[in-house]
Amino acid sequence: MTRTVLITGATGTVSTALMGHLKGAGVRMRALVRDPAAAAAARAAGAEVVAGDLGRPATLGPAFAGVQDVWLLVPNGPRAPEHSMNALWAARGAGAERVVRLSAVGAAHDAPTRSGRLHALSDAETQASGLEWTLLRPMWFMDNLLNEAAEVREKGTLRLDMGQGRLGMVAADDVAACAAAVLAEAPGAHAGRTYTLTGPESLGLDQAAARMGAALGREVAYRPVSGEDKRAAMLAAGADEWTAEMVGEYSAAFAQGWGDFTTPDAEHLLGRAPQTVADFARAHARAFTG
Ligand SMILES: NC(=O)c1ccc[n+]([C@@H]2O[C@H](COP(=O)([O-])OP(=O)(O)OC[C@H]3O[C@@H](n4cnc5c(N)ncnc54)[C@H](OP(=O)(O)O)[C@@H]3O)[C@@H](O)[C@H]2O)c1
Repeated sequence: MTRTVLITGATGTVSTALMGHLKGAGVRMRALVRDPAAAAAARAAGAEVVAGDLGRPATLGPAFAGVQDVWLLVPNGPRAPEHSMNALWAARGAGAERVVRLSAVGAAHDAPTRSGRLHALSDAETQASGLEWTLLRPMWFMDNLLNEAAEVREKGTLRLDMGQGRLGMVAADDVAACAAAVLAEAPGAHAGRTYTLTGPESLGLDQAAARMGAALGREVAYRPVSGEDKRAAMLAAGADEWTAEMVGEYSAAFAQGWGDFTTPDAEHLLGRAPQTVADFARAHARAFTG
């Protein structure tokens, strides 16, 4: 039987890449979106598009009906556990068998970030749901560097607040490919497993900038800024206070060496080495060079 997988977060970074990786993998895809008019990428990947809002449980029935697998991605924010809970409840009600959940590195009740503590609540609920579960806990995405693309283009600088901390950043596309690898296999293969997904090397931002520069054929330099300056810049650019503080908590933790490690998990799932920051820069050269 061809399995149907419900893709949540279907207009976002990871889930859009996931649908690309699942195309041709022998599964039927259904995309849950709040606004079907914004689901062109899902349709292009061959997914059926169904409207629903994870913050409004009454809207979720049609999307979850008849699915065997759920890719559970909820956006960061104070309501993340509520959104995850609503999805799990709808999945149970619909008789789904398996949930593959995007969590975050170091998710734990004593994590140094509010995002990590909120993810821990949803991970615990997923583990107790009665559904077969697999958790993916990625490190900081290389894709966050795209937030600095204008600065890289115009000034050749990366202005971030991670001090001299090193971290094993990972490409969101590899996170998506890992999720696809799990979802394309029959249930059981990754049941009850938690994978911490990193890139192939742990780098300081000065090293990352140098590798980006070499890949792009131009100089890119890391200019460390204070957490307060970064927070002010994010608020000025339109970020909300919760997000600016959450991002700052990750930066502070990484500055302390909290993310200074890599794991073999991504390579194990991908069957190849995960992307380097140079690979990532080349793949997004247009954004970084204009
Ligand atoms: N960035 C990192 O470095 C990093 C590292 C580790 C883990 N993570 C985790 O990755 C996740 C974010 O993934 P991402 O970057 O792919 O997300 P994203 O690009 O921000 O996309 C978020 C998605 O969630 C959807 N959404 C928002 N509110 C919704 C609602 N009420 N009901 C249904 N859908 C809703 C959005 O749809 P609309 O189009 O309707 O807005 C969008 O498709 C978070 O859980 C985060 O903690 C991130």
